Amino acid sequence: PVTVYPDQHIASVKVAKRIADIIRSKQEVGEAAVLGLATGATPVGVYAELVRLHREEGLSFRNVITFNLDEYYPMQPDAAQSYVTFMNEHLFNHIDIDRENVHIPDGTLPKEEIHDYCLSYERKIEEVGGLDFQILGIGRTGHIGFNEPGSAPNSGTRLVTLDDLTRRDAARDFGGKENVPTKAITMGIGTIFKAREIILMAWSQKKAPIIKKAVEGDMSSDVPATYLQLSNSVEFVLDEAAASDLT
Ligand code: F6R
Repeated sequence: PVTVYPDQHIASVKVAKRIADIIRSKQEVGEAAVLGLATGATPVGVYAELVRLHREEGLSFRNVITFNLDEYYPMQPDAAQSYVTFMNEHLFNHIDIDRENVHIPDGTLPKEEIHDYCLSYERKIEEVGGLDFQILGIGRTGHIGFNEPGSAPNSGTRLVTLDDLTRRDAARDFGGKENVPTKAITMGIGTIFKAREIILMAWSQKKAPIIKKAVEGDMSSDVPATYLQLSNSVEFVLDEAAASDLT
């Protein structure tokens, strides 16, 4: 299903509320809530609202386990552009999550260790019972996580090469495209699909053309987000601008 909200703030509050409901319902039965998280501009409002719910409404993250979708490769965790830094600044520094429950792909590994590391990332998700909820943004290439065009629907966590458009879109954060890493470690489309509930969010006119393809286009590895059409557990949450090309 597609849900369109008047603006991204209202939409972000709704998504944060859904996440808070999952966390609280798991708390009631003494279980962990396992969340798949994204970085980038899109989820910033959701994280801000979760921080507000923690500070003002007593929402605790003690029972929350998180797995981030991706990280650039190579990337030092303390670098300004790392997804570790992003998550700390927007969420983890402001809530009561146990740091041992936070998982973000490691951008510092030697290449020959990445394959085993990716398998262990998958295994850890399974060991804690799988993802209850996955947040997604969408890139202008149609990527989800960093599953660029050509990604297989059953792909797992792996090292990938970033599309040129993705690197151009990241250029501002890195002070030029030449400084953007050419690779990343990302959960696969198959990994994402195993989540029991998935919300893909998109805001602004800039995303309207790719949202049209993702929601209404033929399913194809040329636009990896079209694979989401296969799942009944996916909701597209859009603002009016991102939805403006839909028929
Ligand atoms: C980030 C991620 C990416 C972004 C996408 C959109 O963890 O996996 O797929 O969601 O590139 O980025 P923004 O939100 O910056 O437009």
